[in-house]
Formats: sequence, structure tokens, C-alpha cells
Amino acid sequence: MMEMDTLSKGLFITFEGNDGSGKTTQINFLSEYLKQKGMEVILLREPGGTNIGESIRKILLDKENKDMSPITEMLLYAASRAQLVHSVIASGLESGKTVICDRFIDSSFAYQGMGRGLGIKTVSTVNNFAVGKYMPDITFFLDVDADTAMERRHGRGETPDRIESEKMEFHRNVYEGYNNLVSLFPERIKRINTRKSPEEVFDDIKAYMDELLNSR
Ligand code: TYD
Repeated sequence: MMEMDTLSKGLFITFEGNDGSGKTTQINFLSEYLKQKGMEVILLREPGGTNIGESIRKILLDKENKDMSPITEMLLYAASRAQLVHSVIASGLESGKTVICDRFIDSSFAYQGMGRGLGIKTVSTVNNFAVGKYMPDITFFLDVDADTAMERRHGRGETPDRIESEKMEFHRNVYEGYNNLVSLFPERIKRINTRKSPEEVFDDIKAYMDELLNSR
């Protein structure tokens, strides 16, 4: 019975990396790939993905909110996450759908835990309330160091939001945070080299996905 339950559950896939790591392109590739296999896919982004989450997103990314305390920031990301789990992720997975999320708990570990220096333990404690049992089955860390990511963002000519406007040291700490996470959760988090064409990057993601799908 237990096994049946596990088998009927959908796959939960997350993408992580510094701002400018090219997540969107890869998420779209993966979504198409899984749909072609006949899987039902729900695409989400964090913070956001629900009305409440999108409102929280505005507060978090608003450059006017310069004086936001690191604790407030951590709690707001966790609040947006709690709402997303409650209203979309839990029911999606329970009904057997595949959920792909652009950022999830590891962003909080990297940005708030390491970038803001709150530590993994505090972020983990708070986020356990938000996430409950819904941890990702697999996480793709698109590996691009902070300086290269910054150059890519400049190349695109985007206006930086509150987090993106942080100094380089912050983004370097975030990158170091992601590297620590790969060592902490080697089974779940797969490091993806992004110094290749988008198609070649996706070949690596696809290989991990096929392995996971074959093992289920
Ligand atoms: P977004 O524009 O979605 O960034 P990207 O396109 O790079 O994914 O903005 C989300 C920003 O919020 C991004 O700078 C990372 C940051 N963030 C955190 O600091 N903590 C978190 O838990 C999450 C989910 C995002």
C-alpha cells in the first residue's frame, strides 16, 4: 500500500542557480520533453506562483524596500513558498502531476542562509513549516559563477531588482552556498555545467531525468 502511494505521486523537480544562470531556457526544454512523454506538467516560479505569492514577490523585489531585515526577507520567501505548497504543489503531486519549480527551498539556503549569513540551520527550521514533506525529488543546479552570471545579466540589459542589485560579494556568497548544498545533498542536487550551448546543457539534464524516470 505504501509503495502504491509513492508510485502514484508526481515528480517534483526544481531548478536553482545564481541570477542569470539560464534556468528559464532549460525549464522550458524539460517541460516540453516531459510533455512529449505524456506527462502532465505544472510550471511554477518562486517567489510567486499564486496570487498571494505574487504579492509577496512584489514586496521582496521592490528596490524601495532597501531596509528589509534578513529575517523579514527569509520569512517572506518562506511565506510565499508555504502558499505555493498549500495551493498548488501538494495537490499537483498527489494527483500524479509533475511539478517543475523555478527556485525552491535551496534558493533560501543559498541567498538567505549564505548570502545574508543567517545560516542553513535557521533557514531549514523556518522552511520546514512551509515545505512539510514536499521536498524536491531532483534539483538541477545550473552552475555559473557569480561574476559570469553578472556579465550575462548585463548582456541582456535587464533592470536589476532588489536582490540582483546586491553587491558582488553577496552573489559570490550565494554561489558558494550552492556549492555547499551540492556537497550536503549529493543524491538530490545535480550540478549542471552551463559553459556549453543550451542544447548541450539540456542533454546533461535529460540524462539525469531519464535515469530517474527509469528507476521509478
Ligand atoms: P527572479 O526574477 O525570479 O530571479 P531569477 O529569474 O534569477 O530566478 O527573482 C527571484 C529573486 O529572489 C532572485 O534574485 C533570487 C531571490 N530568492 C531568494 O533570495 N530566496 C528565495 O528563497 C527565492 C525563492 C528567491
